[in-house]
Amino acid sequence: MDETARSLIRDEVRAISAYHVPDSRGLIKLDAMENPYGLPLELRAQIAALAAEASLNRYPDPGAAALKARLRETMNIPDAMELLLGNGSDELIQILALAVNQPRAVLISVEPSFVMFRMVAAFTGMRYVGVPLAVDFGLDVSALHAALREHRPALIFIAYPNNPTGNLFDEDAMHALISAAPGLVVVDEAYHAFAARSFMSELTRYPNLLIMRTLSKLGLAGLRLGMLIGRPQWLTEFDKLRLPYNVNVLTQRIAALVLQHPGVLAAQAAAIREGRQRLLAALQVLPGVQAFPSDANFILFRVPRADAVFSGLRSRGVLIKNLNGSHAALTDCLRVTVGTPEENDQFLSALQQSLLQAA
Ligand SMILES: Cc1ncc(COP(=O)(O)O)c(C=O)c1O
Repeated sequence: MDETARSLIRDEVRAISAYHVPDSRGLIKLDAMENPYGLPLELRAQIAALAAEASLNRYPDPGAAALKARLRETMNIPDAMELLLGNGSDELIQILALAVNQPRAVLISVEPSFVMFRMVAAFTGMRYVGVPLAVDFGLDVSALHAALREHRPALIFIAYPNNPTGNLFDEDAMHALISAAPGLVVVDEAYHAFAARSFMSELTRYPNLLIMRTLSKLGLAGLRLGMLIGRPQWLTEFDKLRLPYNVNVLTQRIAALVLQHPGVLAAQAAAIREGRQRLLAALQVLPGVQAFPSDANFILFRVPRADAVFSGLRSRGVLIKNLNGSHAALTDCLRVTVGTPEENDQFLSALQQSLLQAA
């Protein structure tokens, strides 16, 4: 890097490694927690007609009123709460950090968790503190409360269920954390469709609680639509940092259309939950594999020699996520997204061969 770039670009930006998205062409793609099922043909035809008559020469509705109304109908949002939409929930994480980023403000999350919490802290120049999870991947309550006392975080992100471990955290520990937090607590429910619990109804109880959701894992990752739900006093402020027209015309209209048929994505989520249980049972009986129970649409598992097993899978046409080396608690861990039953079977057979080869 030349001298000018060194002097112009912030140190913490130069220190970040870019979020890496591997090339998945020609591979069975089980690396990014996408829904493997496409939309039914009839709905696709309706989307095509809608896209054809959409006014692409006009800016989108800046407030996305029609889409918000539809989301309210489908998401059990308490009446008193406001809704803020983002170009994916990633954008909302960034807006939240920008809003609270005063000098020395701290952002806390647990580790291992979704890497974007740490990355956004670096983007925005916030101080990041990652509190390690307990060995069973549960919340380490005493470490968290000690971190609250020491760092007084402005913002806490808890993915619930957590990525990449897949588990929901203990409910009492979550309540204690929200009650004790001196700042905002964002419960990121990206995997809500695959879990039995939610903190949405707790919004009325805790003034510092915010809930984040996304349509990505539900089946519309390509549209990029994230949602933040919370009290108007907070969301009015965050909305000032949202760039105008952040949710484009096609996303607004297509998401609203698909949400008119909530049964479609709900049935796919049910099929994914069923596939998860079958995949977990199959992984748990494979010799040498330690698979962790999951409340999400992916499964974390540990194998001997994860790097070799990951490469073996890839050479057999299956792309999953290699987490080995990303965090001490994830040594030799891989993460597989639940696919269709056929994809899950292909993955299992490629895994068996890769394990034998790597032994
Ligand atoms: C916990 C968590 N939150 C948010 C996201 C990002 O979602 P979006 O596609 O809405 O940006 C992910 C994606 O993997 C995630 O795991």
